[in-house]
Amino acid sequence: MNNAPIGVFDSGQGGLSVWSELYRRLPHESLLYYGDGKNCPYGNQPRERIVEYSDYAVRRMLSAGVKMVVIACNTATAAAIDHLRTTYDVPFVGLEPAVKPAVLTSRSGVVGILATAASLKGRLFRETSRKYADRARMIEQVGEGFVELVESDREDTPEAFETVSKLLGPMLEQGVDRIVLGCTHYPFLSGAMRRVIGDRDVRLVNPAPAIERRVEVLLEEFSLAAAEDHEPEYSFMTSADEEYLSRLIAKSERAKTLDLD
Ligand code: SIN
Repeated sequence: MNNAPIGVFDSGQGGLSVWSELYRRLPHESLLYYGDGKNCPYGNQPRERIVEYSDYAVRRMLSAGVKMVVIACNTATAAAIDHLRTTYDVPFVGLEPAVKPAVLTSRSGVVGILATAASLKGRLFRETSRKYADRARMIEQVGEGFVELVESDREDTPEAFETVSKLLGPMLEQGVDRIVLGCTHYPFLSGAMRRVIGDRDVRLVNPAPAIERRVEVLLEEFSLAAAEDHEPEYSFMTSADEEYLSRLIAKSERAKTLDLD
């Protein structure tokens, strides 16, 4: 038994969409969330810089005593997970693009993939999409402006609807019936996305449940699970200021109500 917290790291607030899945499904586990608000967004930054930021965040979480780290950020996973795994001696869980479940359940054979530019360029994503290329046509789209909308709490505004509509419209016209949310910020825009999708039979594919299952497996494998009578604690850290921290905590409440398939 190990009652230390699980570390959850993201470039900013988006990783709370993964945090909320851990919160719901692992009720005995303490969680320590680190949002790198000062350096967000990562999506258009050079790989070396993302590795540097991720390394710093992980060191801070390890100093705070985490027993495992979830990289709840597709861009940081793509850029830094190999480095982190070879540098630090705790289990890491990274975010794989949820291409497989989308392709395997698509009926139209056309799958949309929304992610940051850095994720789409990364090895992880390229390998995964190559693997399934003969099973579906994939339409890749950088979620330009999505992270900024979520970071500034504007996900329920007309501006968010317009931005989402501009990027999803062409995908929908090409017949997608699955849209992979390839960045953990994007589930916060699912309300706007659903309004744009309307009554079409299109599903948003969120990777968070698969990440949570992987965390459960590793807790078991490394004998790291918390005791069943452990009262969990939820704490939050950021590289940004107090105001950002307050918004991060408020967003964690919102994350608990996210309703995705
Ligand atoms: C970003 O910081 O640009 C988004 C991070 C992600 O890919 O989840």
